[in-house]
Amino acid sequence: MLDVDKIRADFPILKREVNGKPLVYLDNGASAQKPQAVIDAVTRAYSEEYANVHRGLHTLSNIATEKFEAVRGTVARFLGVSDESQIVLNSGTTEGINMVAYGWAMPRMEPGDEILLSVMEHHANIVPWHFLRERQGVKLTWVDTDAAGWLDPQKVIDAIGPRTKLIAITQLSNVLGTKVDVKAICDAARARGVAVLVDGSQGAVHMPVDLDEMGCDFYAITGHKLYGPSASGAIFVRGERFEEMRPFMGGGDMIRDVSKDAVSYADPPMKFEAGTPGIVQAIGLGVALDYMMEVGVADIAAHEDRLRDYARARLDGLNWLHQQGTVADKAAIFSFTMDGAAHPHDISTILDKKGVAVRAGHHCAGPLMDHLGVSATCRASFAMYNTTAEVDTLVEALELCHEFFA
Ligand code: ALA
Repeated sequence: MLDVDKIRADFPILKREVNGKPLVYLDNGASAQKPQAVIDAVTRAYSEEYANVHRGLHTLSNIATEKFEAVRGTVARFLGVSDESQIVLNSGTTEGINMVAYGWAMPRMEPGDEILLSVMEHHANIVPWHFLRERQGVKLTWVDTDAAGWLDPQKVIDAIGPRTKLIAITQLSNVLGTKVDVKAICDAARARGVAVLVDGSQGAVHMPVDLDEMGCDFYAITGHKLYGPSASGAIFVRGERFEEMRPFMGGGDMIRDVSKDAVSYADPPMKFEAGTPGIVQAIGLGVALDYMMEVGVADIAAHEDRLRDYARARLDGLNWLHQQGTVADKAAIFSFTMDGAAHPHDISTILDKKGVAVRAGHHCAGPLMDHLGVSATCRASFAMYNTTAEVDTLVEALELCHEFFA
């Protein structure tokens, strides 16, 4: 069982106050805080071990290259991928999904071909597909959730048509906390020859992931939600999909030879890593994933499930609070609006006065907001270092807020 006091001691920012109150950080869906091990690794990389990677034959370049390349293996271990050459290191999910859109989908998709999406997708897994709709007449087909926010995998499978080329789907909604049975979708898609891209931005944070078992074609993660540096991340690409892809960005590091008349490319994954990468960001990501694996991803998930159950019991007691996303087995992510005049932005501002950080707004999920019939919600999203006492603080702050607007 996870020792939450020990974990909290590893995150220096949790000791600070905000507006004279102890910080209660419940905006982990937007970005997670960093353990000292990551902060130290980033400092050490810059202060003692910094040089460019893959380019030099001098000592510092060799150290940086070795540390950077080791991250590929760490990401592979974390995601349950047996072959680390299927991991492309990048700046996060947005870059990963754009790489698939430009590198795999654009050259392969004709007008009238279809991409299936759930209504819960984040804009990072919507806008790149709108590019294909706008520029080459690809059709976007949407699958809705039910009233509780559950996505029936069979509805996604039934929506696969003769022109469906790709299913682009989240593993876990950043707004509702709903988990999606992506394995069932991958199994059915593979049998129909349809590729599946899974947005793992939230899923990889809150549940153990085994991609060899899941069987998706692409799986994107973002480091800053995984307790790592911002602008770090990775995407898993199933080996055979590499053969179908053209490079997304051109530049140094991704080539074999360049002349005035011709260019040839490095083998994947480097073919898809143009230019100087986020060297230190990647090193920090590796340390963050090692930290999570040391704590234990199953233990993190179990702790967050306890927080979810406690938070749900407390929030269910507030009859003026309207929760969006009430599936039983969801992640500890709670979106809500309040009776009366309080706009989510007002709620968030009042909560901040009590030291409680939550996100308010559309959460980069426009189609979901339309589906829910709201323009914005407040969202409290939990992480491994949160406590049930913090749930109590959230509830007290919400009660004050409700009284203020009553
Ligand atoms: N995707 C991030 C969120 O859900 C920014 O808040």
